[in-house]
Amino acid sequence: MRILVIGGGGREHALIRKIKQSPKVDYIACTPGNGGISYDAECFDVGACDIDGVVALAKQISADLVVVAPDDPLVLGMVDALNKEGFATFGPNAAAAIIEGSKVFSKNLMLKYGIPTAEYKVFDNPQDAIDYITEKNEFPTVIKADGLALGKGVLIPETLDDAVAGVKEIMEDKVFGDSGNNIVVEEFLTGPEVSVLAFTDGNCVKPMVSSMDHKRALDGDKGLNTGGMGTVSPNPYYTDEVAKECMEKIFIPTIEAMNKEGRTFKGCLYFGLMITPKGAKVIEYNCRFGDPETQVVLPRLKTDIVEIFEAINNGTLADLDIEWSDEACTCVIMASGGYPKSYPKGIEITGLTDGQLDGVTVYHAGTAIKDGKLVTSGGRVLGVTALGEDLPAALAKSYDAVKAINFDGAHYRKDIGKRALEANCN
Ligand code: AMP
Ligand code: GLY
Repeated sequence: MRILVIGGGGREHALIRKIKQSPKVDYIACTPGNGGISYDAECFDVGACDIDGVVALAKQISADLVVVAPDDPLVLGMVDALNKEGFATFGPNAAAAIIEGSKVFSKNLMLKYGIPTAEYKVFDNPQDAIDYITEKNEFPTVIKADGLALGKGVLIPETLDDAVAGVKEIMEDKVFGDSGNNIVVEEFLTGPEVSVLAFTDGNCVKPMVSSMDHKRALDGDKGLNTGGMGTVSPNPYYTDEVAKECMEKIFIPTIEAMNKEGRTFKGCLYFGLMITPKGAKVIEYNCRFGDPETQVVLPRLKTDIVEIFEAINNGTLADLDIEWSDEACTCVIMASGGYPKSYPKGIEITGLTDGQLDGVTVYHAGTAIKDGKLVTSGGRVLGVTALGEDLPAALAKSYDAVKAINFDGAHYRKDIGKRALEANCN
């Protein structure tokens, strides 16, 4: 099979490494890819949101299957365009991707079908939102831009002044563009967060092993929100009991709700969960694999991922037994100095130990090859990932490998996995 992967970050690198293990596959292409991915797949320079360009590329390379990994092209309808031209795909169509593309849609879906989530109200004008927040007078509160905002569309103001400023930034200054035409104001929930990615063909839902992201830039969950500074799998807060509750109250009801709405979801549905004192609640849905969750989940997958993609397309996922390893997996993100604010690019990276340390894989997120050298080209640069018999063993390997890698200004969190190790759930 000839497979084309759309995207160019660490998630895509992890997907490609897993696809490469399939005996069914003899050629992998990726667009736009990155420096590290270019060692594993032929990279092209068609942008990840260029629908016509991707359809043309799929034709040019005679792709048998196109995996659309990022949110934006899914929400824009890339899968629909590829299917129309007869290409098999992995990823939801636009009608289903709206579950991530519009927070107003996903909150209304949960309310309508009784899926546990934070209480909320939707606003299409800033004064009504400000009046509501003022009257409610409960802080912190949570303000979410309706549409996609590069993962930055969530504000958690601690005071009324900050909340008013936030509403104005999103709805009047349009810092997230049209994504801020509507906002959701919701109740602030507390509890550990769990990410669960799940395969679904619309008939059945098969959750993957759980993981925990670390979204803040600095140790101790301080600093700005990022795309994710590291992940661990499994997430110890996701006990068997919690998993059962999520399956009954969240996963199956969500798949059924999407079917009832005429928006059958096929692909990877990401459940961002919070385990609150009142039970598990949905913080957000994503219509795709998470980044960097994928980097710690897929290394534990023992089943051929291409067989899973095929089962989803054939509607036979229920018949496939998906196997996972019992090992733990950890990913420490090495980021450019300054990230998530502005940062330099083109800085040489040295000391990569990929393939030299047992059980360690370095997934590339923001790298490029310039004059034969590997250089930085993004905020999140590398995901230094390790499998180990348990979390401490995997973490030790990830951090050993991190210490050998250098680029000027590199920063990484030193406490990935700390919260998971402190869990006392069993
Ligand atoms: P999101 O982009 O929806 O994943 O939100 C980013 C982060 O904001 C989440 O990972 C949570 O840590 C936090 N967050 C979002 N919604 C809430 C909520 N209702 N209560 C508490 N924290 C939240
Ligand atoms: N790691 C969170 C996300 O992929 O949205």
